[in-house]
Amino acid sequence: MPKIAFIGAGRMASAMVKGLIRSQACQPQDITVISGADSTASDLARATGVRVAASPEELCAQANAVVLACKPQQFLQLDQRYPALTQGKCVLSILAGTRIATLSQFFSSARNVARAMPNTPGAVGQGITALCSASPLVKADQAMVSAILSGLGEIVELPESMFDAVTAVSGSGPGFFFEFVAAYEAAAVSLGFSPAQAQRLVRQTFAGSLSLLQSSSETPDELRNQVTSPGGTTKAGLDVMSSQQFRKLILNTLQAAKNRSEELGK
Ligand SMILES: NC(=O)c1ccc[n+]([C@@H]2O[C@H](COP(=O)([O-])OP(=O)(O)OC[C@H]3O[C@@H](n4cnc5c(N)ncnc54)[C@H](OP(=O)(O)O)[C@@H]3O)[C@@H](O)[C@H]2O)c1
Repeated sequence: MPKIAFIGAGRMASAMVKGLIRSQACQPQDITVISGADSTASDLARATGVRVAASPEELCAQANAVVLACKPQQFLQLDQRYPALTQGKCVLSILAGTRIATLSQFFSSARNVARAMPNTPGAVGQGITALCSASPLVKADQAMVSAILSGLGEIVELPESMFDAVTAVSGSGPGFFFEFVAAYEAAAVSLGFSPAQAQRLVRQTFAGSLSLLQSSSETPDELRNQVTSPGGTTKAGLDVMSSQQFRKLILNTLQAAKNRSEELGK
């Protein structure tokens, strides 16, 4: 069983730790965590039985892999002993916007450095995480990294050159989706439903439509056409979406998020 160390024990680290234990890739005693000034590490230890390290030395002593799961701004204040303590180890970072070149500069003697971009549905095991690495992961590291990230949901390997785009599409995607749901629920209330009725109607409509899409071999365009008859109600609504350039709005939204990711990575 690999021994895994987590720098950071917040929401994302907790989801990964719980996934490792749930899948039996690790026993709780094989996982060690450390946090900042607050009590997230001891909270996670109480909930899962993992060990809390009192120092960076203790955290890294037995670890085969070190997962960096603090906030990007906290990375700048990370203990300066980590570069030496991660010598020969595999380092996996989930920090948004922090590039492999920056990570490799800090973890200068690590065996390899991998970078992942998860998303918030990972907190309930339903996310999708993009993954790349400084050099190709050897088989054992690939298995270890997969075991760590699979607690967050699916994994997709992509070159780092696609990370600003993936940050827009799947990283920020939940935010765009929640905004769409909020707007749709507010519109349903405007049509006369109570907030509770609007919530029930809208969420089950979206959940059911996604289930239908995923269980079907048809494209979203084909499924849309099946509910659109000439002169019908769906057509009347779609005409408004088209005349107000809905698709251009979505394209501009993703482009803006990608541009911002590029700026933040500089
Ligand atoms: N949440 C998302 O949707 C999402 C999506 C994609 C990527 N990410 C990335 O995931 C990372 C973690 O996000 P999160 O939402 O899990 O954050 P979080 O809940 O705020 O957790 C951050 C953790 O880092 C710890 N920490 C702070 N300073 C530290 C230090 N100097 N040494 C060791 N640990 C330290 C914190 O400890 P205390 O609070 O106990 O001090 C806390 O356990 C971020 O880098 C983010 O960019 C998150």
